Amino acid sequence: MSLWSQFSSLVWGPGSVLILVLLLRLSVQLWHKSHLWDLQCCSTDLTGKVAVVTGANSGMGKVVSQELARRGARVILACRSRERGQQALAEIQAASKDACLLLGEVDLSSMASIRTFARWLLEEYPEIHLLVNNAAICGFPKTLTPEGLELTFATNYVGPFLLTNLLQGALQRAESARVVNVSSFTQERGYIDEEHLTGAGRPLTFNQNYYCSKLLLTSFTGELARRLQGTGVTVNSVDPGVVYTEIMKHFSWSYRLLFKLSSFFIKDPKQGAIPILYLSLAKELDGISGKYFSSSCVITHPPKAAQDHLVAQSLWNASVQLTNLGKMD
Ligand SMILES: NC(=O)c1ccc[n+]([C@@H]2O[C@H](COP(=O)([O-])OP(=O)(O)OC[C@H]3O[C@@H](n4cnc5c(N)ncnc54)[C@H](OP(=O)(O)O)[C@@H]3O)[C@@H](O)[C@H]2O)c1
Ligand SMILES: *[C@@H]1O[C@H](CO)[C@@H](O)[C@H](O)[C@H]1NC(C)=O
Ligand SMILES: *[C@@H]1O[C@H](CO)[C@@H](O)[C@H](O)[C@H]1NC(C)=O
Repeated sequence: MSLWSQFSSLVWGPGSVLILVLLLRLSVQLWHKSHLWDLQCCSTDLTGKVAVVTGANSGMGKVVSQELARRGARVILACRSRERGQQALAEIQAASKDACLLLGEVDLSSMASIRTFARWLLEEYPEIHLLVNNAAICGFPKTLTPEGLELTFATNYVGPFLLTNLLQGALQRAESARVVNVSSFTQERGYIDEEHLTGAGRPLTFNQNYYCSKLLLTSFTGELARRLQGTGVTVNSVDPGVVYTEIMKHFSWSYRLLFKLSSFFIKDPKQGAIPILYLSLAKELDGISGKYFSSSCVITHPPKAAQDHLVAQSLWNASVQLTNLGKMD
């Protein structure tokens, strides 16, 4: 065998392909590491604080809950399935023995369920220091809930709108509190139309309804921040980046396979949780409100539609009407 053919079989053999893939993965991991906030350097202690995390049984919600508990917070895992919630609670408890965890059952697509949950929560905890609106769904075709809302918008936008508003008193009583909304870079591809909330308006594909619902969440962040100015409650939203979690579980098998293959190169839930934890913990964010942060933890302009105050106000008004806010509570 000539030297050349030996060389080329070495370069093109399966072994070298594997090495190439591993090198690529290593560089992606190094890149993530150098671009992520350093959690270990943050000394924030949460002893005596109460934190609520929605969708805490899976993906980034679980990682965030574990870290908050590790820092001494009493963490309410707000989950829709008692069984999945219990399992996550047991896992976190096993990982950190002193963790103070409580399971709360809430289906964010149901306004009735949110009201029941909020009533219970406010009785148990009149002061809440941190609310992480993390739960979301993706990949559903247009579906109406029994309450007449569109399922994706109900879960990803109306639910957090109502929950945040119902908990507002407890957040203000805490004197210094934070609300963190988990948005998504995909909101760039969304647009705002209040009609979508009830399944009306221009039809959306199963991807578009996710993009649009995330855009509404960001728009709301701005409006809420304006309304809470001077109360000691700050509200910000963040994009965790592309993260390998359960988020694609409602997609077809071909999408899931692609996601699975890409999992080798994208962030894992621990890395994906870093930007969310940054907004929840970082001392330098005291007093900062109404901002949208990129997955590298940098303040970024959200899409134009989410910066329009009039649009945000009108969306707020429509959401108040839909949820009967104020009339029932
Ligand atoms: N993964 C990404 O690449 C990515 C990118 C950008 C933004 N995000 C955002 O990051 C956040 C966390 O998602 P993830 O990636 O960690 O996904 P995940 O693993 O699917 O977690 C989502 C959580 O939300 C819960 N949930 C869904 N519908 C609910 C409802 N009606 N009531 C209560 N809880 C509900 C799920 O509970 P069940 O287990 O019961 O379904 C689950 O615990 C989401 O806001 C997502 O939009 C993710
Ligand atoms: C989060 O979004 C919800 C609903 O979209 C809204 O009620 C709340 O004010 C927002 N909070 C923040 C911090 O963005
Ligand atoms: C929203 O409602 C308030 C109070 O009812 C009203 O003053 C304001 O003009 C409304 N804003 C929009 C944009 O509809």
